[in-house]
Amino acid sequence: MLRRIIVASNNPDKFREIQEKFSALPLILQSLADFPFVPKVVEDQPDLPGNARKKAVEVWRAAGLWTLADDTGLEVVALGGAPGVFSARYSGPGATYESNCLKLLEEMHHVPEGERQAAFRTVICLRTDEREYCVEGTLQGTIGRNPRGENGFGYDPIFVLSDGRTLAELSLEEKNRISHRGRALVKTEMLLRGLLEVSPFP
Ligand code: IMP
Repeated sequence: MLRRIIVASNNPDKFREIQEKFSALPLILQSLADFPFVPKVVEDQPDLPGNARKKAVEVWRAAGLWTLADDTGLEVVALGGAPGVFSARYSGPGATYESNCLKLLEEMHHVPEGERQAAFRTVICLRTDEREYCVEGTLQGTIGRNPRGENGFGYDPIFVLSDGRTLAELSLEEKNRISHRGRALVKTEMLLRGLLEVSPFP
C-alpha cells in the first residue's frame, strides 16, 4: 500500500502540476475534492508561511493523512513587500487578476526604472504525523509598465524577467521550470523522497 498525501488546494491546475512533479515518487496524491467533510480553512495569517502552515495542519487534523499546502504572493520592494499575503485580493472584494494588475501598475506609476524589483514567493508546508516541514521557492524580476503576453495567470503579464520577457510570454513548461512554485516543488520532492524512505506506508 502506498502512502496517501492530501494536497490542500481546490485548484485543479495546481493539483495537476504537483502530480506531474511527483510522478516518480511512491505515493498517491489526493485533492481536497475527495474530502468534502474537511472544513474550509480561513487564510487569515499575517504572512505566507503562516497561511501555508495553517492549511496543512488543519487539513491533516481533520482528515488524518499527511497534508501538503502552499501559499504564494508577489512581493514588491518599492511597496514594502506588498501585495504579499494579500496578492489574491489586492484590489479589494471582487478582485480579478486584471484588476489586481491594474492596481499594482497604478501604485508603481511613479516608481522609476531601477527601483521596480519584485519577487514571487511560494511557501509549501508538509504536515506529517510527527511534525511539519516548510520549504520555499522564489523568482526575482521587475514590475513592467504595461501587461504583455497571453499565457499564465495572476500577475504574470506585468512580471518581467531578466531577459525582458514577462512570465505571461513563457510557455507553461518554461514557466514551471523556473517559477517560484516549480522551485519550491523541487525542494518538496527531495523532502518527500527522504521521508518516504523512512516511512513509506500510511
Ligand atoms: P495562491 O496562494 O497560489 O492562491 O496565490 C495567491 C495569488 O498570488 C493568486 O491569486 C495570484 O494573484 C498570485 N499568484 C500566485 N501564483 C502566481 C503565479 O505563478 N503567477 C502570477 N500570479 C500568481
